[in-house]
Amino acid sequence: MLTNTAAWKALKAHQAEISNLHMRDLFKDDPDRFQSYSLSLDTLFFDYSKHRITQETKTLLLNLARASDVELWREKMFAGEKINNTENRAVLHTALRRPKDDTVTVDGENVMPFVHHTLSKMKTFCEKVQNGTWRGHTGKKVEHIVNLGIGGSDLGPYMVCEALKPFGYKNLTMHFVSNIDGTHLSETLKSIDAATTLFIVASKTFTTQETMTNAQSAKDWLVKALGTEDAIEKHFIALSTNEDEVTAFGINKDNMFPFKDWVGGRYSLWSSIGLPIALYIGFENFRALLDGAYAMDRHFQDTPLESNIPVIAALLGIWYRNFFGAQSYAVLPYDQYLHRFPAYLQQLDMESNGKTIDRDGNRVDYDTGPVLFGEPGTNGQHAFYQLIHQGTSLIPCDFIAAKETYNPLGDHHTKLLSNFLAQPQALMQGRTPDFEGNRPSTSILVERLDPYSLGMLIALYEHKIFVQGIIWRLNSFDQPGVQLGKILSNQILDAIETGKNEGLDNSTEGLLKSIPHINLVNKE
Ligand code: F6P
Repeated sequence: MLTNTAAWKALKAHQAEISNLHMRDLFKDDPDRFQSYSLSLDTLFFDYSKHRITQETKTLLLNLARASDVELWREKMFAGEKINNTENRAVLHTALRRPKDDTVTVDGENVMPFVHHTLSKMKTFCEKVQNGTWRGHTGKKVEHIVNLGIGGSDLGPYMVCEALKPFGYKNLTMHFVSNIDGTHLSETLKSIDAATTLFIVASKTFTTQETMTNAQSAKDWLVKALGTEDAIEKHFIALSTNEDEVTAFGINKDNMFPFKDWVGGRYSLWSSIGLPIALYIGFENFRALLDGAYAMDRHFQDTPLESNIPVIAALLGIWYRNFFGAQSYAVLPYDQYLHRFPAYLQQLDMESNGKTIDRDGNRVDYDTGPVLFGEPGTNGQHAFYQLIHQGTSLIPCDFIAAKETYNPLGDHHTKLLSNFLAQPQALMQGRTPDFEGNRPSTSILVERLDPYSLGMLIALYEHKIFVQGIIWRLNSFDQPGVQLGKILSNQILDAIETGKNEGLDNSTEGLLKSIPHINLVNKE
């Protein structure tokens, strides 16, 4: 067990020794602390000086990483080994960002020609939509794009489109519909015109209940509005790994943009699942997003662990989660364009590392993934920061900001950045004996939020989560708990449709009986 290793025990003993050390004193004793505890890559700056660590802490954490074979597992991932052992799949979202001439082999086949062939198909399609060559059934240009997807087939593309709004084509309006609640699709349909709308059905499996229900209703709506099934061809495209289901749904395979099962759902925005991004910001900008992620890949793969940004970020998370008992972790972007970033990261982190069974099938006796939450600053300051400052739980935070703004309105940006600087300072310093501070945070700064820097930022978190998963001995790339929820929701649907409640627990049966009209409404 991990907790019996020398590296783990050394950290435990060390924590007991330094738990009362105050960061105020660490800064007082080391005037160069900021220089010593900060890293940069290109335009991304990573300041981890406001953490309850010393050089010894860092050494011991790095020992843990080495004892956990982080370097070996990192190579296995990049090389396309099947490290997703429960699903017997490689984990190769990094291949999606690599240059054409590289070779990455899965089952004896170089996957790079497929990756770049798909990219060029995406590029051609983007150009057609953007220059108006692609026309709808009635001959009109595309003005609205509706992405129908959920989880990784929604959160990533939605977050990036919001983050990169300044790069978006002004003549295209993006809509993201994910929820099975008919309100989500209905409210969207109210604001669009069928003749100028392109629906993207985004689903790795093409069997997800929410997405397929929304896609069917959208298809019915379009056919009714345009008067013929022939309209589907110019108004529906698919992003998927499942060609059979795509064609069974009625989408021509020429209008399908494929990807492979070695791309996990929550790691898929770099694949054809990113097509809505490319349509909105243009293919070249999408390429810049991939290039930013590739720069972080190179850094992660080639840099020694002690100055490796994702590795340090991962180790800090482990330090607080496993040795200070921190249950949660906040990501606080001081940038309105990043307002969906915490929601995106929730899936990335919590679906990856929210597990109690390790990769060898054993129950763990240590904590794994924390609860991740966040809101853009400064909104969060007036909502939940009080608890971060003075609550009984320790909540490490990541503060994220861009030096430049796209909206230089009066002194707004100066005030935004002063808050971005003030909050970590207040968390660290505190003020009185009752408000003791010593609350850790990382500050991440980019020059400006553009496709390249966003690519670096997202990949930083992907690799951070990977390293934590390796140290916790997890398979970060499956999601068995979510699969069970999917199965049970289908069983209940069956019970509603057949009226047979066998097998339901007493509470679920009671609740079901309390909504007797449920089946009638369904059948209207
Ligand atoms: O929530 C479970 C999950 O499998 C996610 O991992 C995935 O991103 C999402 O469902 C959507 O799956 P699909 O792209 O196959 O529709």
